[in-house]
Amino acid sequence: MTDSPEAEATQEPARADVFRAPVGTHDVLPPESDAWIGAVSAFAQRAARYGYGLVSTPLFEHVEVFQRVGEHTDVIRKEMYDFADKGGRHIALRPEGTAPVVRAYVQHRPTAPWKVWYVAPNFRYERPQRGRYRQHWQLGAEVLGVDDPAVDVEVIALAHGFYRDLGLKRVQLVVNSMGDPSSRPAYSDALRRHFLHEGAQFGDEFLERARANPLRILDSKRADWQDVIDHAPQLFDYLSDESREHFEAVQRGLDALGIEHEIAPRLVRGFDYYTRTTFEFVSDALDAAQNAVGGGGRYDRLAEEMGGPPTPGIGFGMGVERILIACESEGVPPVAALPGIEVFVVDDLGDASATVILQELRDSGVGADRAYGGRSVKAQLKAANRSGARFAVLLFREEAGRGAVVVRNLVTSEQLEVPREQIVAWVLEHREMAPS
Ligand code: HAM
Repeated sequence: MTDSPEAEATQEPARADVFRAPVGTHDVLPPESDAWIGAVSAFAQRAARYGYGLVSTPLFEHVEVFQRVGEHTDVIRKEMYDFADKGGRHIALRPEGTAPVVRAYVQHRPTAPWKVWYVAPNFRYERPQRGRYRQHWQLGAEVLGVDDPAVDVEVIALAHGFYRDLGLKRVQLVVNSMGDPSSRPAYSDALRRHFLHEGAQFGDEFLERARANPLRILDSKRADWQDVIDHAPQLFDYLSDESREHFEAVQRGLDALGIEHEIAPRLVRGFDYYTRTTFEFVSDALDAAQNAVGGGGRYDRLAEEMGGPPTPGIGFGMGVERILIACESEGVPPVAALPGIEVFVVDDLGDASATVILQELRDSGVGADRAYGGRSVKAQLKAANRSGARFAVLLFREEAGRGAVVVRNLVTSEQLEVPREQIVAWVLEHREMAPS
């Protein structure tokens, strides 16, 4: 077995499968989508407090944008969804979020520091399993134009604070430094020598990787390679003074914020663009093979490789699906981002009254719903109970004749009559005081 999926035999889906979401993708439906929007909204709020603005780039780019990201990585070489469009352009669906953001930076040249966040789907032709999908969503942030280790600390603190906002406790931070491009060749050479010498028995795939990009062996999870990986030279011993000082400053910053972290000398991450600081957040509430709930690092050369001015950059991406699985495993309830249904209107009049009251409530900021199709009062009350509303507003002929409606507390079953023109004010006054 290799680290990435073998190309599956190309096959037409069976007739019964064509109207199902493709393998490795899934639909997000209510009410589960409440947790999804809660996470996105918690991240948006936190990112805004750090001065990050939302960036949205196209779902697809010219394939060259991603080739910069890792000619030797599985994500780019084997897993990318690329195709020729009707105009003959070579296009790829975004496999990750950093390259498009850097492409946008180079194209628009905004004032630095440029601090942005995103929520976007990514596409990788992976071997699907729980927590590993062919379409996954990432929440991420990137900062371009700042070299200061304080910004490394800031982006890590942003991600760290977000996991805390969600209530996740079993997420650990690991950090490393990949060194700068000037120290990388010496380290790569030492690694290559080590792997070619010690790994001959692993065959062509291993040797080919050792020759082309030995760093890509370091992050492999293949059990049979681990011993040789464990004895490989350490990146730390090859750091330039400048990289070492930068890394120490990052660690001091994390310490000052009380953000616990472990140094992981073998953390090289899956893309070729990384320089200096790299980090990952892992959750022990997830299966070991896909326990990373987020990861990122510096990519100080990427803007230049895309034809822009030399511009340092750093950021991270976090898998939304994995975060939600981690929340479920840890038993933390979803963050409530949107109002639920507070009032359910039960209509026995059959005229426009229900429609008008609902609109008044909704315009006043109250979540309100109804049943449709002239169902019995009993059936409507059942729907009211299912909706999660605290109050039902009952529109009966007798009370309507007196210009009134009945309000029923669905928790205590108490009922009272309220003048029709006061119903919105009554709900606004009582919504906070209602027993839950
Ligand atoms: P990445 O580590 O490939 O980094 O992905 C970031 C996160 O996305 C992972 O930690 C994981 O939570 C989630 N993820 C990745 N692949 C899948 C998948 N197939 N199914 C479900 N979740 C997945 C990047 O993509 C970089 N762009 C991060 C970055 C931003 N580096 C600097 N800036």
